[in-house]
Amino acid sequence: MNDLQNKRILLGLSGGIACYKAAELCRALVKAGAQVQVVMTEAATHFITPVTLQALSNREVFTSQWDDRPANNMAHIELGRGVDAILVAPASADFMAKLLHGRADDLLSLTCLARPLQQVPLILAPAMNREMWAHPATQRNVQQLKADGTVVLDVGQGDQACGEVGDGRMLEADEILDDLIAHFQPKRLSGRRVLVTAGPTYEALDPVRGITNLSSGKMGFAMARAAREAGAQVVLVAGPVSLPTPRGVRRVDVRSALQMQAAVQAEMAQADVFVATAAVADWRPTNASDQKIKKDGSGQTPVLSFTENPDILAGVASSDRARSGQLFCVGFAAESHDLLSNAQAKRERKGVPLLAGNIGPATFGQDDNALLLIDAHGTLELPHASKLTLARQLVEQIAARLPRDGTPVLP
Ligand code: CTP
Repeated sequence: MNDLQNKRILLGLSGGIACYKAAELCRALVKAGAQVQVVMTEAATHFITPVTLQALSNREVFTSQWDDRPANNMAHIELGRGVDAILVAPASADFMAKLLHGRADDLLSLTCLARPLQQVPLILAPAMNREMWAHPATQRNVQQLKADGTVVLDVGQGDQACGEVGDGRMLEADEILDDLIAHFQPKRLSGRRVLVTAGPTYEALDPVRGITNLSSGKMGFAMARAAREAGAQVVLVAGPVSLPTPRGVRRVDVRSALQMQAAVQAEMAQADVFVATAAVADWRPTNASDQKIKKDGSGQTPVLSFTENPDILAGVASSDRARSGQLFCVGFAAESHDLLSNAQAKRERKGVPLLAGNIGPATFGQDDNALLLIDAHGTLELPHASKLTLARQLVEQIAARLPRDGTPVLP
């Protein structure tokens, strides 16, 4: 995905062992379509060479405020103009302290200070020893930098280069990339709380067997990510899938439809939007065996009986919260044929204001999909695209339908 296509990023490196991760980050930014200009502090050059960053960014690297390559001899002005963001990764404790005071005795801090404040966001990925991170001075600086409008990303937790364990590692390159991509998404769901179900459910027959379906969970995980990128607080109730949790999303893992229903019921009072992408099993074995069902040698097959699972979405859609317009419900419809008529009927049957229809066999497990949105007024086709692209488009459609002034949105 070229999520950073046409974005110009100034990647700054201050001194720290996490500079080795900046090489990978630089590569990831370029791969995502960004034009990357690297600026390094003198300290950073002790950890990684400018040659490495030059090769990865396909551009000459700047390290000195006395560099006379820019025609006007003002590298600190030239470099910070026209970029979409300055990303400093790693941002050392010392570099953050320097920024806080508006000090500018090297090219990177000069460029940060001289950037047009309203147009060029400054994003920091801190990296340091856990004691340095926890120190009141650093924490004070982080708070003040945020108050000054700087975006300070989280730190990672775990083993540190110094041999200690704790908070302060720089995030991994892919995490910083995701945060940067999210930074550029419109904040259409800012202040909203979104609850998403995703994946299949698994209905046990016995301790080692069960029935499930081919849903991969990718659409639901993309929905959770897109909602988070749009500024929402997101809870993702996930059936058994092995996908990584999107950044900033709270995940609740479940297995069966009944567990999914219980998790949704526990969360729905704190949600403004409910998006049901899960492919919930329609039936569960009436009596799951505690022990493995064994062959008895007679050639007889076991007789299984099933009970219908509750319809989680219909249940939420008929709650007081949803009916009064406080909780906006979005359903999905996985059909194998007659998408329009089946999905229209399903929207009415479930009592939801918006439903996204798709052809199940064509999308289960794939990275792409196409959606047919249906509401009370008509239909809208979202043509074939990646699931994340579709999820962002669906977020836009949901945001446009949310009540701004408390007016309920009813099916
Ligand atoms: N859904 C749900 N609980 C169920 C079944 C479905 O919450 N027990 C939700 C799904 O998450 C989806 C929508 O209802 O948002 C439609 O799911 P789908 O599987 O397409 O339809 P079904 O309701 O199962 O109907 P049918 O099997 O007849 O197509």
